[in-house]
Amino acid sequence: MVGFLIFATMKKEIVVSGIRPTGFLHLGNYFGAMRNYVRMQDSYDCYFFVANWHSLTTHPDTKQLQQAVHRVIAENVACGLDPNKVSLYVQSDIPEIAELYLYLNMLAYKGELEKTTTFKDKVRLQPDNINAGLLTYPVLQAADILIQRAVKVPVGKDQEQHLEMARNFAERFNYRYGNVLPLPYAFNYGGELIKILSLDGNGKMSKSENQMNTIYLADDDEQIRKKIMKAKTDQGPATTNSLKPDYIENLFTLLKVVSAEDVVAKFEHDFNASSEGNCIIRYGDLKKQLAADMITFIQPIREQAAAIQNNSQLLKQIMQQGAEKARINAQATLTQVRQAIGMHYY
Ligand code: TRP
Repeated sequence: MVGFLIFATMKKEIVVSGIRPTGFLHLGNYFGAMRNYVRMQDSYDCYFFVANWHSLTTHPDTKQLQQAVHRVIAENVACGLDPNKVSLYVQSDIPEIAELYLYLNMLAYKGELEKTTTFKDKVRLQPDNINAGLLTYPVLQAADILIQRAVKVPVGKDQEQHLEMARNFAERFNYRYGNVLPLPYAFNYGGELIKILSLDGNGKMSKSENQMNTIYLADDDEQIRKKIMKAKTDQGPATTNSLKPDYIENLFTLLKVVSAEDVVAKFEHDFNASSEGNCIIRYGDLKKQLAADMITFIQPIREQAAAIQNNSQLLKQIMQQGAEKARINAQATLTQVRQAIGMHYY
């Protein structure tokens, strides 16, 4: 039986993803990433971690970091990640990542790092702190992934370039030292991915703190209600069966993810039956309903996250358990890596 279990876990493909402990988890993260992590936990061997080393590239002040790390762990568990199924850990608990990062740095070229889109963005955003960690951010990310021998990395479009770089570093390593590192690929869910827009209809919901247009999983009932009631709408459709503007479509998307089917159907019907002079849909009613259902949806997640965050014993146990499994797997890779490079002298 034990043998069978080991065999069963060994056969699963390895998945890695990192979450930066900056900003609060919001609905966009939940429906874009979190829910997919939760779905993957049974079919893959999952390693999900808090990228606290990466956060130093942009947030050198660590006063808030500990709390932020705890919050990410707590929120992820509250959203449904089971620490007994996935390995949930903190990056800095796996020193093997740092050593692999060192080796990969020798295979990464200044030119390619400088032309990375995220690097160029950061140079514009923080011209006074263009540190080497920022330049080699994709190398550290590659180490995160390759150390676990992951083949799938569930990330958004903005991370595809980093994944391509990780494959390049792995290929260079394998070419030079022997075939050790499997090539990782970005894994997105195609049509299944639900995109949540900002409540003013301008772009995606964003992670930066305390915005009126973003609903955070930590928002209290009143904040949720206020934000939804302020969401952008208009006078209603000018003809029956109109195309919905982005910001209205977004309200329907939210309704679909938190409300009952007949509620969605009612508002869909009202929208499609509305026209100028005969506006049946009442956005005020829609928002009231959406707010109530959103509160019902978020409340248990928020409360569970808070309970975990206040339970330092439990947090410690989750992080230690996750790190233990991740380290065993990482050490196995590092042994092969050192062997391949010839880093053994006695
Ligand atoms: N760069 C990722 C982001 O900005 C976070 C991250 C760090 C990551 N290491 C990773 C994601 C490894 C996937 C795999 O969201």
